[in-house]
Amino acid sequence: MIDQDCIIEIENLRTEFEGNIVHKDINLCIYRGEVLSLIGGSGSGKTTLLRQILGLEKPSQGTIRIFGYSRYNSNYKLLKNIRNRSGVLFQNGALFSALSVFDNVALPLRELHTLDEPLIHDLVMLKLDMVAIDGQHVNKMPAELSGGMVKRVALARALALDPELLFLDEPTAGLDPQLSQSFVDLIHTLRSEMQLTIVMVTHDLNPLTALSDRIAVLAEQRVIAIGNLQEIINYDHPFIKSFFMGDHDKYILNNKQSL
Ligand SMILES: Nc1ncnc2c1ncn2[C@@H]1O[C@H](COP(=O)(O)OP(=O)(O)O)[C@@H](O)[C@H]1O
Ligand SMILES: [Mg+2]
Repeated sequence: MIDQDCIIEIENLRTEFEGNIVHKDINLCIYRGEVLSLIGGSGSGKTTLLRQILGLEKPSQGTIRIFGYSRYNSNYKLLKNIRNRSGVLFQNGALFSALSVFDNVALPLRELHTLDEPLIHDLVMLKLDMVAIDGQHVNKMPAELSGGMVKRVALARALALDPELLFLDEPTAGLDPQLSQSFVDLIHTLRSEMQLTIVMVTHDLNPLTALSDRIAVLAEQRVIAIGNLQEIINYDHPFIKSFFMGDHDKYILNNKQSL
């Protein structure tokens, strides 16, 4: 189901913050239907790149095309269209703390101004069911939820509008191994059910190895390597070597390779 056409296309992207060059010359095509993971050291510009793709930040130079449209088109209708076709799970979940579980998930649906409340209710319950949040929790506030539940509710909100594109920034950070695994299983299922294209930032080997079709490595201010897990593991670069070489990580990789 992976198309060779680019749902996101980044060309000659450069990012500079007051003399601090974060990206020099990023070129990247994300295929429709794939899970592309972005790895790189802390401060290598992964989150910034996601924010730029989302249109929350503007690169210093270069172009980003998404669904075939320039990200920096000023046409309001077009930008709204792009926004409605993309869901985001920010680092740390980021639910609105003053809104209940129900209202958090309902928010993007209400912002459309085209759906009545009974329909919004049904859609919210459907999305919560998809992420395995029981109906008894709908009136809870985010502070009353466990870390794993916050992630799942945030995911339900990201999926509220049935997006084609889903962005995940460190989706399993802060989850214990069991919760992390159930989150990975959930993404795996939703991916095929919803025909999603997923762009994921992670340094957790479990989602990386379980979900990625391709991995792009950010280092030295550019994408130094892109390919499937095996190709990336075999790529000779100090960052990649150290990334995959912890004892625990070796264990996971050995198990994956023997599957
Ligand atoms: N709005 C900003 N203003 C100035 N510097 C920023 C801004 N956003 C990010 N940076 C800097 O850009 C670099 C990359 O940050 P970030 O994209 O968050 O990295 P990563 O997600 O890979 O850890 C860091 O050095 C960070 O301090
Ligand atoms: Mg980050």
